[in-house]
Amino acid sequence: MSDKSKKTNDETNETLTNRQGHPVTNNQSLRTVGNRGPSTLENYDFLEKISHFDRERIPERVVHARGAGAHGYFVPTGKAGDEPISKYTRAKVFQEEGKKTPVFVRFSSVIHGGTSPETLRDPRGFAVKFYTEDGNWDLVGNNLKIFFIRDAMKFPDLIHAFKPDPVTNIQDGRRIFDFCSSSPETFHMVTFVFSPWGIPANYRMMQGSGVNTYKWVNEEGKAVLVKYHWEPKQGIKNLTQQEANEIQATNFNHATQDLYEAIERGDYPEWDLNVQIMSDDDHPELDFDPLDDTKIWPKDEFPWLHVGTMVLNKNPEDYFTEVEQAAFGTGVLVDGLDFSDDKMLQGRTFSYSDTQRHRVGANYLQLPINAPKKRTATNQTGGQMQYEVGRGSQSPHINYEPSTVGGLKEANQTGKEYTPMVEGKLVRETIDRQNNTKQAGETFREFEDWEKDDLISNLVAALAPADKRIQEKMIALAEEADEEYGRRLKEGLAAASEHTESSKPLGGTDNPEDAVRKGHEAD
Ligand code: HEM
Repeated sequence: MSDKSKKTNDETNETLTNRQGHPVTNNQSLRTVGNRGPSTLENYDFLEKISHFDRERIPERVVHARGAGAHGYFVPTGKAGDEPISKYTRAKVFQEEGKKTPVFVRFSSVIHGGTSPETLRDPRGFAVKFYTEDGNWDLVGNNLKIFFIRDAMKFPDLIHAFKPDPVTNIQDGRRIFDFCSSSPETFHMVTFVFSPWGIPANYRMMQGSGVNTYKWVNEEGKAVLVKYHWEPKQGIKNLTQQEANEIQATNFNHATQDLYEAIERGDYPEWDLNVQIMSDDDHPELDFDPLDDTKIWPKDEFPWLHVGTMVLNKNPEDYFTEVEQAAFGTGVLVDGLDFSDDKMLQGRTFSYSDTQRHRVGANYLQLPINAPKKRTATNQTGGQMQYEVGRGSQSPHINYEPSTVGGLKEANQTGKEYTPMVEGKLVRETIDRQNNTKQAGETFREFEDWEKDDLISNLVAALAPADKRIQEKMIALAEEADEEYGRRLKEGLAAASEHTESSKPLGGTDNPEDAVRKGHEAD
């Protein structure tokens, strides 16, 4: 650092202290007996500095570890199509045309670790925290409109299959397709992820979607089913595998860099928020279940209604404080927004706050990035790193409810309560209208030629080392989806097998009995 800047620091009193507020007068050398050591253990400044460093990391997110974030605001249109939005929802965030609500957004990739390349084939996360006047609302979405599975019970298996092999620590297409070929509901998502839609060019030029089905509730307590979609005003751009390889050769932070630099130069990215609405029932007339997140709601039957626009105009001041510690969850809804019976959504809603209590800590909601911008008042108390006295100063002795003499009271219900009727046998079953491949075929036919070419080439490359039985199951799914899709995948794999050694079985053996015997020998 130059003398000039040192002078400036002195002038502004920006000198170093430790965390106790003591001035640090020597930040270069340990306190030692003579200048060659040994060192002494009462070096408080050193102990504090190194011990804090030793604890700089928290567990990374179990999925979506690699991400970038930005602040901004959301402005509603006050309408849904030609109708006032109040017809469908009483959520205040949507009512008043032009009224700004602050937001924080985190984009991410899913499978690999916190510093993995941003060129990898993966869905991208698109999580938005709205700091509304009624408290926080999180819309935790992805870039793609659908997901691999429709039952939360399968999520850990899905993720295990996509994460690196537990032995080699290498991601392995044989494991991915072993799981996917035996879970045919994944086929629509596989079709997207192995096409250029699996590598968005950057975060600014990708769509976002809530994926799961939610509900909106109006003032009369009437509900509709709703899906959310973000559309980038910058346009959409995806990469072929070849283009991604070229970027990755020189830059594995390109998406974070693109977002950060755009905001720094004042080129603020914007997304329109659109919704699709369905009446709140089972819709037996459809060939898919409206609660099935492996399906797209066709736009011609359920048009996109523009309900607002989001602008990102401020970079985080500190990555760890804001982006790493940000905690989004599907349970974080405000009045006028509600859950649907979507089984994925319900499983997700447990998982997010559960993992955040472990990843960030029991008091993660006190951190400024996660705390609502409105007053909070709760009798929840204690826990690691508690620093807020959350219940206000009116009745400091009363941290329980009900009380005759003081303390916090229950809030009044605003609007008519939504009380859906639920009835049925408790079962463990898959849904009826599965229709696993029809929309995958439609998606394939909508792809442009270069997207189809890239999809086939990526699938062939990833499937070529897989067990023949797995290849055959994947070909059968593609054939069921679309004749051309199936034929091209089959031809591609046949051509690849001429150049590939015979596929190596996972686990080192084809014969399950061998595996059992090996296990016994090890005993
Ligand atoms: C992150 C669970 C499905 C989007 C996470 C995290 C967990 C999780 C545990 C880490 C959260 C954290 O550490 O803060 C699940 C489960 C699912 C599921 C159990 C299914 C049952 C989905 C789906 C989507 C999605 C369908 C897309 C709509 C995201 C996003 C993040 C995330 C965007 C990153 C949020 C952030 O930026 O902090 N998920 N997830 N997840 N999930 Fe899911």
